[in-house]
Amino acid sequence: MKLFFLSLTFCSIGFYATAQRTIDQRVDSVLKLMTLDEKIGQMNQYNDDWNATGPVTLDSTKRQQLRNGQLGSLLNCVGTRRTRVWQEVAMQSRLKIPLLFGQDVIHGYKTTFPIPLAEAASWDLEAIELSARIAATEASSAGVHWTFAPMVDIARDPRWGRVMEGAGEDPYLGSKIAFARVKGFQGNGLGNTNAVMACAKHFAAYGAAIGGRDYNSVDMSERMLWEVYLPPFKAAVDAGAATFMNAFNDLNGVPATGNRYLQRDILKGKWKFNGFVVSDWGSIGEMIQHGNVKNEYEAALSAVTAGSDMDMESRCYRNNLAQGVKDKKVPVRLIDDAVRRILRKKFELGLFDDPFRFCDAQREQAALNNPAHTAAARQVAAKSIVLLKNEKNLLPLSKNTKTIAFIGPLVKPKKQNKGFWDVEVPGVDSNFIVSQWEGLQNKVGNTATLLYAKGCDIEGDDRSGFAEAIEVAKKSDVVILSIGERRDMSGEAKSRSNINIPGVQEDLLKELLATGKPVVVLINAGRPLVFDYTAEHAPAILYTWWLGSEAGNAIADVLFGDYNPSAKLPISFPRSVGQVPIYYSHFNTGRPAGNDDDKNYRSAYNDLSIYPQYEFGYGLSYTTFQYSNLELSKRKMRIHEKIEVSVTIRNTGAYDGEDVVQLYLRDKVGSVVRPVQELKDFAKVKLKAGESKTLRFVIDKEKLSFYNQPLQWVAEPGDFELMIGASARDIRLRDRFELVQ
Ligand code: NOJ
Repeated sequence: MKLFFLSLTFCSIGFYATAQRTIDQRVDSVLKLMTLDEKIGQMNQYNDDWNATGPVTLDSTKRQQLRNGQLGSLLNCVGTRRTRVWQEVAMQSRLKIPLLFGQDVIHGYKTTFPIPLAEAASWDLEAIELSARIAATEASSAGVHWTFAPMVDIARDPRWGRVMEGAGEDPYLGSKIAFARVKGFQGNGLGNTNAVMACAKHFAAYGAAIGGRDYNSVDMSERMLWEVYLPPFKAAVDAGAATFMNAFNDLNGVPATGNRYLQRDILKGKWKFNGFVVSDWGSIGEMIQHGNVKNEYEAALSAVTAGSDMDMESRCYRNNLAQGVKDKKVPVRLIDDAVRRILRKKFELGLFDDPFRFCDAQREQAALNNPAHTAAARQVAAKSIVLLKNEKNLLPLSKNTKTIAFIGPLVKPKKQNKGFWDVEVPGVDSNFIVSQWEGLQNKVGNTATLLYAKGCDIEGDDRSGFAEAIEVAKKSDVVILSIGERRDMSGEAKSRSNINIPGVQEDLLKELLATGKPVVVLINAGRPLVFDYTAEHAPAILYTWWLGSEAGNAIADVLFGDYNPSAKLPISFPRSVGQVPIYYSHFNTGRPAGNDDDKNYRSAYNDLSIYPQYEFGYGLSYTTFQYSNLELSKRKMRIHEKIEVSVTIRNTGAYDGEDVVQLYLRDKVGSVVRPVQELKDFAKVKLKAGESKTLRFVIDKEKLSFYNQPLQWVAEPGDFELMIGASARDIRLRDRFELVQ
């Protein structure tokens, strides 16, 4: 690399780097040297030749383009060996501008953590940050500079396959998690070799796709956009996210990719975001299908004007921007602005000082074989498991249980536990994943007999395995049944109209229950599934999502009480697909239904409960918690004052455990109507059996504010109801206060 700087200095073309010069000066000194073609080159990102995560464009000239300075970034290129080879090609270009390697490191690199929705269920911001930190440590050691995460789209429709990738339905929880994930990925800041650039996506409102169909249009009020869908993105900016990705959807008729209001006015204007925006895969060209532009030339112009700095895969920039500049349709200052943003990040990452600084094979080897990562994955996985039901304290299982039947199509497969968006790491065999069967074996050793039967497939109507499963169940003291979705049933382009537990899996449960044996059901999925029968009849249910590399061990830890479940749902679980979308923070309407007996002339379905199957914030523990002594420091608050809220929580059961205490507010009268409840704070607290603690929360103006009719962020004087709950529905304590002029 030294040679690079020397040669440039000796060529006296006025570019050399010294640590003293600010990054902006260094960026400008490079920009000055660049031809228009090289500038546009920086705005291009292509897929490597393998492992595509979108429709592939065959292109055998990528290397030559890179040598010509016509490529700024590659995605789906991982591993020190492969990234080094490409970076060497970049070093053959005239200006030797290093390539950026981007990758979907969504829930872990080699060590796979629970899918993001599952992790969100932990409500444990430290654990979530740690998981992102470890993912970044591993990915950066393997040549990756940039992860396309976190996905911070609020999602309220479980039919949408990508619900698995975010933090659920709530803007407050979603914002906290967005912040934690960005911090985790970027660690102590770009420039450290264990930090990767975060990418908040998909800007914006992609999660509100009509009908939950992926890539679909979004039509929403400006208030909904600002109050619900934008806050997690703002939190990502506040956390210092280096990049943003725009989205496939149109928002109120304007494709997000060509949406100037979103990218220039809000993100780069109002929020002063100084990173760069990448398009989604091919989304610039897709504006033609949207019917918003005529051809690729117009698509490129629209996207660059709107503020999309880098074109992922569509090649619209490559093939059209120069002409746009020539035609005076694209001012060069727009191109310069985009290129500056991209180069700035390359400097911040230290790539101009050493383009191979992320290509250290020894570091890669050490980072990808770190037992501390495995231990963390096990802990985070256990924290993500939600105990939905536990009749007669069937769980935790006694360690003296003699014979256990472990039944179901998800008991033995390993890879299913990885979930969607795992990374295929070169040279790594997916067998390092601990299957559910192995986890149970590890736990019980020789102390119990484990019996296995598959019972049925995930899909299809084949019942031929039922008989064996029933036989096995009859021989056991307790049955554990592992059912759910396949890992590729939730994810990108995996929207479903039917979100019931697929196939005959619930029929198998019926048969097993008929044996009279106690049955614990594990539900593996990437989204809230509908499982009426199971919810009603199974005595114990654990929602195990897709938990990653350590799934088996974590599940066994929870089954036997070595970890007491503490997770709470980050999204409402509907009773049937007809209830979708259902979310806790809805408006009251003029004819609210009070309960299921009060539905006449009310806003409710005649044929369904008004309640979800399991509400936002719900999740049980092996112990019980009692809330008391709710106190407010005052009951009248002036706008710049604060109210301190304190509440005592006591572990009243027999096990040590953690609870998530949730604080909700309701603004009783607003100039625009306000939700019946809004989460405004929470605390995850760990208590030994019998122990109690007093928690303190602070209510300030920010927590009382909303967007009024002219969309100003205001807190209006009046009455507020304060609720402290163990879920959105399980409100244990209430009080009121007034905001006064
Ligand atoms: C399309 C997805 O929408 C996006 O989230 C992902 O980062 C890109 N493909 C790259 O794989």
